[in-house]
Amino acid sequence: KARVAILISGTGTNMAALLYAAKADDCPYEVVLVASNNPDAPGLRLADAENIPTWAKSHKGMDRAAFDTEIGAAIEDAQAGYVALAGYMRLLSPEFVARWQHRMLNIHPSLLPKYKGLDTCQRALDAGDSHAGCSVHLVTAEVDDGEVLAQTKVAITDGDTAETLARRVQFAEHQLFPRTLARWVTRYHAPDWLLSEVTKYALALPETE
Ligand code: GAR
Repeated sequence: KARVAILISGTGTNMAALLYAAKADDCPYEVVLVASNNPDAPGLRLADAENIPTWAKSHKGMDRAAFDTEIGAAIEDAQAGYVALAGYMRLLSPEFVARWQHRMLNIHPSLLPKYKGLDTCQRALDAGDSHAGCSVHLVTAEVDDGEVLAQTKVAITDGDTAETLARRVQFAEHQLFPRTLARWVTRYHAPDWLLSEVTKYALALPETE
């Protein structure tokens, strides 16, 4: 099975969805690490109770690249081949993004390219949209950017508030993320040992233009 590290900053409902989907025998991935920049993230307690190794450290007062080197080392130690960002509310350094190119997926609560950033459901309501939704995309250096792999549209009903809508969008997220990750690791699958050899080699090359 493909080995996945999940990064969280908060509640971790998407982490839970990824984790429980992975319990199915035919799921092509397993969760080998849950890591967080917030030692108080409630999701860490659940991961721990489910016997998933966890790593946590506060990023406060730390240089971004230095922090990403540490979290990156934890991911390498776990021998993960993929990274899933599940409510990881922190920008990643260009080096980290490059290391996990094509192997790092993020879930975002909007129909990208609409509403990157925060308060996505409120912004969809304010714009009078008929639908909100969620997207799973490959992570690039730009925030909430990168190729969209899958989306779910969620109808906006009369009387929706940002809270009721966000809750419904989360139901959709919990379906979409595990399914899309499973599809991606199956389609884009090189053995992890090969990937790490290739990466080591690529990093050893002198810089070109
Ligand atoms: C999710 O709705 C996710 O889409 C969003 O944070 C929430 C985390 O909830 N992520 C972003 O906005 C990233 N730009 P969770 O901790 O319960 O999974």
